Amino acid sequence: MSTIRDVSRAAGVSIATVSRALSSPDKVSKNTLKKVNAAIEELQYRPNMLSQRFRNKTANCIVVLVPDIANLFFTTVIKGIENVAQKRGFSVLLGDTRDSSNRELEYINLVETKQADGIIQLRPYAENDSALPKQSVKAVNASGCEDTPYPAVRIDNIGAAEEVVKYLISTGHRRIGIISGLPNNPHSIDRLRGYKRALNSAGIKFDPSIVTEGDFSFWSGMNASEHFIRMSDSDRPTAIFCMNDEMAIGAIKGFKAKGIRVPEQMSITGFDDLEFSRYCDPPLTTVSQPAELIGVKSAELLFQLIDGETPNQTEYILPIEFIIRQSTGVPRKT
Ligand code: RIB
Repeated sequence: MSTIRDVSRAAGVSIATVSRALSSPDKVSKNTLKKVNAAIEELQYRPNMLSQRFRNKTANCIVVLVPDIANLFFTTVIKGIENVAQKRGFSVLLGDTRDSSNRELEYINLVETKQADGIIQLRPYAENDSALPKQSVKAVNASGCEDTPYPAVRIDNIGAAEEVVKYLISTGHRRIGIISGLPNNPHSIDRLRGYKRALNSAGIKFDPSIVTEGDFSFWSGMNASEHFIRMSDSDRPTAIFCMNDEMAIGAIKGFKAKGIRVPEQMSITGFDDLEFSRYCDPPLTTVSQPAELIGVKSAELLFQLIDGETPNQTEYILPIEFIIRQSTGVPRKT
């Protein structure tokens, strides 16, 4: 097993420089960092966490709170976080909170009691949130909403939803239904706002009878399709904006099982652009969120806080891409 001394020899720098490159890479020159990383790679060096913890009085661990580990969007965000943490010699403790405040508080306690150095929250903060870490805790919100009380990395959910619905309107749809996420989830609230904005600017009246709820899972999307299947052909929307891809794919399955063809009889849009959404049948029109980059940026932001730096930017709004595929078309004739 190689040691820090072997790395310092191979890179031609002092042990102190290797140590600095590991704990605060931004404090060493690019050239030195390159040499140290190459030596680490070549020697397959893994830092001794225990001695690092002792030296730096840190836990060398960050906590990531994820509302649903099975949701592929979050898995991709975590991949980005993990990459940054690994380079810093930190481990990542995953807290699958399953939307439970008690579970969240248990994980937050780990940071408050210094068993971890910081926390990244993957669900958006809700108003009157009962599970907020104390202000002294180093915390970043990834995939948040406007007015998040912590440094945040997010997309513009309102603008993205508005773009999707405006597109549907531009192809002739006037009766556009919604399969929403959990109604108190701030993403559901923001995406609904975007939907309403698009209707408003086209002079289309909001009709709550064509809004139904899911919980962001595939099965909830499939069940929600029943709400529309039960309607008469003239009442049934010609397009449905689903608030994430999983529900959109579930809805497509539900419609197809009842002989309703997508997109000929029903256009469907998603949100996330999961890896398999381009392969579903038909391939899904959706909003591509930069999930991995959200993870990378939020981890970088958290490490700035852990290093005691004041980030020059505390909110990053990353761009989305609206991807038109074959799950949408012109409205059927009713
Ligand atoms: O919480 C679930 C949803 O919110 C995800 O599918 C993703 O869209 C996220 O923003």
